[in-house]
Amino acid sequence: MIEKEFIPKSYSNSIESGSFTWSSPSNIALVKYWGKKEHQIPENPSISFTLDNCKTTTTLSFSKKENSDSFSFEVFLDGEKKDDFKPKIETFFKRVEAYLPFLKDYHFKIETSNTFPHSSGIASSASGMSALALCLMSIDKSLGEHISQENFIQKASFLARLGSGSACRSLEGDLVVWGKHNKIDGSSDVFGVKYPYEVHQNFKNYQDTILLVDKGEKQVSSTVGHNLMHGHPFAKERFKQANKNLSDMISILKDGDLDKFIALVESEALTLHAMMMTSMPYFILMKPNTLEIINKIWAYRQSSGSKVCFTLDAGANVHVLYPENEAFQVLEFIKNELVAFCQKGQYINDKIGFGAKLL
Ligand code: DP6
Repeated sequence: MIEKEFIPKSYSNSIESGSFTWSSPSNIALVKYWGKKEHQIPENPSISFTLDNCKTTTTLSFSKKENSDSFSFEVFLDGEKKDDFKPKIETFFKRVEAYLPFLKDYHFKIETSNTFPHSSGIASSASGMSALALCLMSIDKSLGEHISQENFIQKASFLARLGSGSACRSLEGDLVVWGKHNKIDGSSDVFGVKYPYEVHQNFKNYQDTILLVDKGEKQVSSTVGHNLMHGHPFAKERFKQANKNLSDMISILKDGDLDKFIALVESEALTLHAMMMTSMPYFILMKPNTLEIINKIWAYRQSSGSKVCFTLDAGANVHVLYPENEAFQVLEFIKNELVAFCQKGQYINDKIGFGAKLL
């Protein structure tokens, strides 16, 4: 069991107090993670683009406390105390305690902020959980023996996954794979890995404009959503399809075949939503404006020959993906034809990024 390797043997140093700050990006899946087993093990492998602008910055301050009988922490978002974030973090601490045996020895102050609006419907759990996992790893590293950069990132990704599955894809690399896939060396169910093969120039600096169609609270929490795949009539086929799509993605990324990329990515997005529409209970997470945008993108692609496409996460917002050499034209198209369908005309320009940073 690889998990056991993440349990520190013993700590050689003792530290009274300190603080670490990490900034960690969000990511957008091309082949989607939807469905998980116990202990946050994915039902199928997934691959994502790491984003560059959508980030969470977290400062974790810690000070030794008198006793070690319970977790003690407070959370702030943009300087404001957020007690409603505590249950999720308490659950995370419980899950990772065995791998970070110092957790009950300190009082923690978690100060976090996002570059994107909290209520934008952009999932902050991936960037938030990976930033927190990295801060905790910095403490783990300071207390223990030398740890290589590779092992540091691997354990941070492992911890982040226990906070939120997709968070394990927000550590290092522009394309990250999570979940064991027989054609991807080093891929694992327990942590994300940098995509290890050749990637065509066409995907360098790939652009992602996120159209904020609905900024409301998520209609279905991701945990509830993933659970809907248990006993889902199409689950088995879906997991098979995701594996095949990831196989196909290897040659698409190598050859730079944008038409095949578009077909695969859009089909993944619609399949994710189809899974939600065909589960029991069923949900429609798209809004009328999501469909308006999709139709506009299809019409624009048809008339202009553009390689623009869309993907979706588990909500109504649309990620518009396009190659860097089309950035100018596609942005004009977005401003002229798509912004009208966004809530308050809001959108976020982003592009592929390279991962988290220690500040
Ligand atoms: C639709 O990672 O948010 O964005 O593991 O329950 O925290 P938990 O789920 P989460 O699920 C993300 C699902 C998705 C697809 C993806 O990112 O691959």
